[in-house]
Parts: sequence; structure tokens; C-alpha cells
Amino acid sequence: MSTPAGVRVRVAVAGAAGRMGQAVCAAVEGADDLELTGRADPALGTSLADVLGDADVVVDFTRPDTALANALECVKAGVHVVIGTTGFDADPLFALGRDAPANVFIAPNFAIGAVLMMRFAAEASQHMEKAEIIELHHDRKLDRPSGTAARTAQLMQGDVPIHSVRLPGLVAHQEVILGDVGQTLTIRHDSLERESFMPGVLLAVRKVSDISHSPLIGLEHLLF
Ligand SMILES: NC(=O)c1ccc[n+]([C@@H]2O[C@H](COP(=O)([O-])OP(=O)(O)OC[C@H]3O[C@@H](n4cnc5c(N)ncnc54)[C@H](O)[C@@H]3O)[C@@H](O)[C@H]2O)c1
Repeated sequence: MSTPAGVRVRVAVAGAAGRMGQAVCAAVEGADDLELTGRADPALGTSLADVLGDADVVVDFTRPDTALANALECVKAGVHVVIGTTGFDADPLFALGRDAPANVFIAPNFAIGAVLMMRFAAEASQHMEKAEIIELHHDRKLDRPSGTAARTAQLMQGDVPIHSVRLPGLVAHQEVILGDVGQTLTIRHDSLERESFMPGVLLAVRKVSDISHSPLIGLEHLLF
């Protein structure tokens, strides 16, 4: 059920002390229609269970080894969950069924430019012979290939190899290079700051209670 007009959506953040979690907390605090009601993070001494009672929606930016358990805990408690964490197997969430008490929305990338990159790459792959992906991220990222690269390859035609680069100084970048006789096409997206993800995260927070099926994967379903 959607939140009645004028009532602020209560949002808790899992991974609140992390790079993305801190940015999400600030974005939620800056939105008039949202209220930050909890920060769950072992680094803060607060568990997910501590914050679930006061939340309508949990935003999860944690680790590949905790995201699934967190999502199942949220749904069991009747709290919608927006997952940004990458590198975990989301398949068990499909077993939740239509009668689950809350919805799950997952996006491997919340930046509008990245969503467009994936869309253009999918289209281009139908017209050019071969393609490869180079994804580049900061060196503390735990998973490889990135969720964005894996999703891009999934949306593209043919077998698309992925190359991962991990270096200090980078945030989140991806190049899709397509080749055909005598020509190449390069589609590149750069997230230069974590703020690039925030409009997409807030959109998902506002819409997760109304999505038509759950789990729903990909910001494109909320945008286009
Ligand atoms: N979808 C997107 O657009 C997008 C964008 C950037 C990053 N990411 C993904 O977000 C995730 C987080 O990235 P980051 O750079 O913020 O990582 P980070 O390491 O800075 O933060 C993760 C935080 O999660 C906390 N944590 C660990 N277990 C927890 C649990 N059980 N409950 C609550 N909190 C827990 C950690 O203490 C840490 O503070 C990664 O999987 C990354 O790939 C996704």
C-alpha cells in the first residue's frame, strides 16, 4: 500500500556508516517527504532489527554477504526494501511469492546516466558484431565484475566479456566497446561522486510500495 499524501515515508538505512549509506542518510534527511528513522550498521552498534520497527522502507547498501539476509528480514517484518548492494545472488527473493508482506526493489546502478548507458548498449549490441565491457571502480569494492557490468552484459546480445579494474581514485565507471568491420563504438559512463546515485535511490524509496511485482530489478522500470 502506498503512503497517504502528506505523510512522510519513514526510511531506515542499512550500511549507514558506509560510503553509500552516509550519502543516502544525507539525501533522505534533505527530502521534505521522507524521514530518516534509523541507521543500522555494526560500525554504529545498531542492527537491522533495532531499526525495523520504525521504518516503512529500508535502503540497503551493505555487503554481498549480508544483503540477502537483510532483505528477507525486512520483508518478513513487512518493511519494503530498496537494495543497492551488488554481488549477491538475488534468486531466493523470487521465491517470496505474491503474498509477501512487503516489496523488494533492486538496482545494480541508481545513476540515470548508467541506466541510459545500459539501454544504449543493449540496443547497439543488436546491430554490431561483438562487444566487450571494461568496468573501473575504487579499490575497496568487494565484488567483481560489478553489478552494473553483469547487468549490462545480461541485457546485451551475444557473449560479452567483462574486464574489471580496481584502483584508488576511481568511483564507478564503465565503458562498453562495440566493434564491427572497420569501426568501433564506445559508450562510457562515469559516476564522479556518490551523489550521482541519490535521485535514483530516492525515486525507488518513494515508489517501492507501489511496484507491480516484486522483486523488481532495474531503475529503468521506474523511469521509463
Ligand atoms: N546500486 C548502486 O547504484 C551502487 C552504487 C555504489 C555502490 N553500490 C554497492 O553498495 C554496496 C556498499 O558500498 P559502499 O562503498 O558504501 O561500501 P562500504 O564498505 O563503505 O559500506 C558498507 C557498510 O555496510 C555495513 N554493514 C556490514 N554488514 C551489515 C549488516 N549486516 N547490516 C547493516 N550494515 C552492515 C558496514 O559496516 C559498512 O559500514 C556495495 O555492494 C557496492 O557495490 C551500489
